[in-house]
Amino acid sequence: MTQKIILDTDPGIDDAMAIFYAFQAPEIDVLGLTTVFGNVPVEMAAQNALSLVELAELDIPVCKGTGVPHYGPKSTFAHFVHGDDGFGNIGHHAPKGKLHDLSSAEFIVQQARKYPGEIILVPIGPLSNIALALKLEPELPKLIKAVYIMGGAALVPGNVTPVAEANIWNDPIAADIVFSAGWDLIMFGLDVTYDLPFDGGFVDILAEKNPKLGGFVAKSSQFYMDFYSQNREERVCFFHDAFPLAYIASPDMFELTEGHMRIGTDPLMKGQTSFAPVGSTPSDLWNDMPLIKVATKVDHPKLTQHFIDTYAK
Ligand code: RIB
Ligand code: CA
Repeated sequence: MTQKIILDTDPGIDDAMAIFYAFQAPEIDVLGLTTVFGNVPVEMAAQNALSLVELAELDIPVCKGTGVPHYGPKSTFAHFVHGDDGFGNIGHHAPKGKLHDLSSAEFIVQQARKYPGEIILVPIGPLSNIALALKLEPELPKLIKAVYIMGGAALVPGNVTPVAEANIWNDPIAADIVFSAGWDLIMFGLDVTYDLPFDGGFVDILAEKNPKLGGFVAKSSQFYMDFYSQNREERVCFFHDAFPLAYIASPDMFELTEGHMRIGTDPLMKGQTSFAPVGSTPSDLWNDMPLIKVATKVDHPKLTQHFIDTYAK
């Protein structure tokens, strides 16, 4: 049986790698790509998602979502990581296709009502659309099977500030709404994604196994590697966004820790994912929070081979 998912995304180079992984994985059925601001403005995220669907020659709905966080200043985006075009300035073709009529949040609600209890939401950008969907349909946690998030840094430092990871930092109010909603939620944050660097040889193998999709990832990753290789001897990059998807296909590769989480929203702690593992505190303030799970370990050789095998299918 394949697992129905909706991928909420801000493409983005590691988003592209994750989206193609999801398209290739026989265990996963992508109902739609819902886009959000983050790495790039939402208009570009939506066009980039359309380009990826067209490159893969698939007919999958792409929706445009929100371009601003719930509160606070507009994002300044991460062009210095992903290039002016979000794909490492490789001059990719503009898409021909059209966006879906529904917004990202509306699409999530529509599909959740259509397939109650069947869909896993996989947000790999800021959580703004998911929080909006919760406002549109407060019963969403009962309609959605689970939420697997790329974002956060539970027991490790952040990548935007000492305490905050980019996706959560971009819209901490939305993140707090989503983490507190009381659904089956697993966070795949920097604890696991930043622990596994991929080198140039890895993207070359993806390109060799799958010249069209892997070739695109290898080409666009060069700019991304320039960013990640500053102050390092070796040339590396990180494919954060593919981790929650790999868990769907092969959960045994991961170790999870259960606990309570709150998101920092004041200026200094903005986007901090503060985590209290079960039994670690007597505080009722923490213990009354809904339980979530955090991925705290992953089998590196197995996950690397799994990505390669999936691109080769
Ligand atoms: O911190 C990594 C996350 O931020 C990834 O989702 C990446 O695409 C960026 O948005
Ligand atoms: Ca992303």
